[in-house]
Amino acid sequence: MCGIVGYVGSGNATNFLIDGLRRLEYRGYDSAGIAVYENGKINIEKKQGRLVNLENELKKHPLQGHIGIGHTRWATHGKPSDRNAHPHGDCHNHFVVVHNGIIENYLTLKKDLMEKGHVFKSETDTEVVAHLLEELDDGNFLSTVRKMLSIIEGSYSLVIMDSSYPDTIICTKKNNPLIIGLGKGENFIASDIPAVINHTRDIYILDDEEVAVVKADQVSILDRDGKPVKKEIQKVTWSAEAAEKGGYPHFMLKEIFEQPKAVRDTVQIHLNKDGSVTFPDLGWTKECFENIDNILITACGTAYHAGLVAKHYIERFVKIPVSVEIASEYRYSKPLTTNRTLCIVVSQSGETIDTLEALKEAKKHGAKSLAVTNSIGSSIAREADHVVYTLAGPEIAVASTKAYTTQLVALLMLALYMAQLRGTISMDLIHKITDGLKDLPKQIEKVLKEKDHMAEVADRLIKAHDIFYLGRSIDYAIAMEGALKLKEVSYIHAESYAAGELKHGTLALITADTPVIAVATQDAVSSKMYSNIQEVKARGAEVLGIGYEDDKELGKYTTETVRIPRVDFFIAPILSVIPMQLLAYYTSVKRGNDVDKPRNLAKSVTVE
Ligand code: F6R
Repeated sequence: MCGIVGYVGSGNATNFLIDGLRRLEYRGYDSAGIAVYENGKINIEKKQGRLVNLENELKKHPLQGHIGIGHTRWATHGKPSDRNAHPHGDCHNHFVVVHNGIIENYLTLKKDLMEKGHVFKSETDTEVVAHLLEELDDGNFLSTVRKMLSIIEGSYSLVIMDSSYPDTIICTKKNNPLIIGLGKGENFIASDIPAVINHTRDIYILDDEEVAVVKADQVSILDRDGKPVKKEIQKVTWSAEAAEKGGYPHFMLKEIFEQPKAVRDTVQIHLNKDGSVTFPDLGWTKECFENIDNILITACGTAYHAGLVAKHYIERFVKIPVSVEIASEYRYSKPLTTNRTLCIVVSQSGETIDTLEALKEAKKHGAKSLAVTNSIGSSIAREADHVVYTLAGPEIAVASTKAYTTQLVALLMLALYMAQLRGTISMDLIHKITDGLKDLPKQIEKVLKEKDHMAEVADRLIKAHDIFYLGRSIDYAIAMEGALKLKEVSYIHAESYAAGELKHGTLALITADTPVIAVATQDAVSSKMYSNIQEVKARGAEVLGIGYEDDKELGKYTTETVRIPRVDFFIAPILSVIPMQLLAYYTSVKRGNDVDKPRNLAKSVTVE
């Protein structure tokens, strides 16, 4: 995720660009930059860090012009730095671009362009677009852009300037958002509505592969074949604040609904065309594993729960024993970690101090290390020997949702990759699971349709004092995440239990006043799970079951059931957690809590 803006008109471009970027900062905030056409050329200012750094720079070197583009970055390729900040230009800043998305074939393109003499200034995938435009330049801005689009692969919103066309911006999109705000004698481009809402409420929403040619008094839109498109003007009725949340009442709900895209992005980046899995940046070979006896996963909270699921993945596929430790405990546990341990840390923010210190401790004992994080250039990413990024985009709500599901995806794919290298898994099984992962965004969309159902179930939970979450095998790890989500946003006490363990003491707490959420997606233990559900039902508890749509048995024992599509049981956790996220969200809303900022909690915990 990144925020992009563009302006063409008679006003001061910099004013709109900075204001627009401020309103899009929730889309990314590790660097920002603008490009403005002035005195016959395109000038660029960009700065690592929050927008304020760029504003301070602009006080020293103001950019004055009537046409410009801007960007606020959430790094995906290349760490946050001045150099990697957008906009990016070609060798002469003839073409200058801002981009949101991933150019998947950038490495091949970059190699070709370098052989042709292009000198690159950044590590980003985006810069290839500017150089490619320079290489393809035929003197006609539009036809050059269309040629470039026929070569690049991946996802993008792109906003482009050409110094030979000082009155025109061209923009386009594929699988990333882009809108055009229509003003009087001026037009605005942005990745999202909040950037333009103070200037106009008339917008065009671009569709995939449409190309818009934007001038101060005219916007023409072409389809992918170059034919003119007649677009309808949409009227924005939201307030500025609602617009920032994409019309959702809270960031948590917005982020729950962003999961199909976040998962799709995270899957795509690790998938080869032949269905095998790839992590090229790791540089691992089969031989690397000859020096590994055990794997340690350490993390906190939701990320720790992702680690518990990953233990199942890695032990099953890679056949190396895995221990999962709470980071704050691991550090002081006099661990038996050695130089034959691979330590995997998981952290959305990449800044959690407990996880960072646990990583340092493991390294002190000689462990090799790998971080799974959502935050490029974060402290944890820098400390680990290797990094795998989740592509969830910025997560604003304190309660983690899309970061968690992308952690599960990344860890599942990492386990498949390690097994692929070690030869401990058949290619057939890899294909079966990767096919499932490709379908996953659609399945998530199906589960999100349970939204209203979960809101109704929440009505029955709001008065509860204690709620139990049960599961077996991987479902137990998911039950732990469900319970944590409910606790942190609803403030209702919730406890997760391995369903088979309940009878060893905790069953004494089950009464008609303790609702139970039972997850049942693991076929190997489903009959045992049904028995455990009957045990709590017999004590008067109301049970919400979460299981497959074709599970005829589950509904016989539960009070109410929420269904997920039938998927491979390794993928099921990524679906079964979603009803629990929705349940936590609605329970919180109905109790009148501050959903996005629950009491006593912070998004990034940098104290021990
Ligand atoms: C819960 C939640 C926390 C975090 C934990 C670790 O919804 O978000 O439990 O998972 O504080 O944070 P990161 O992943 O940033 O290291």
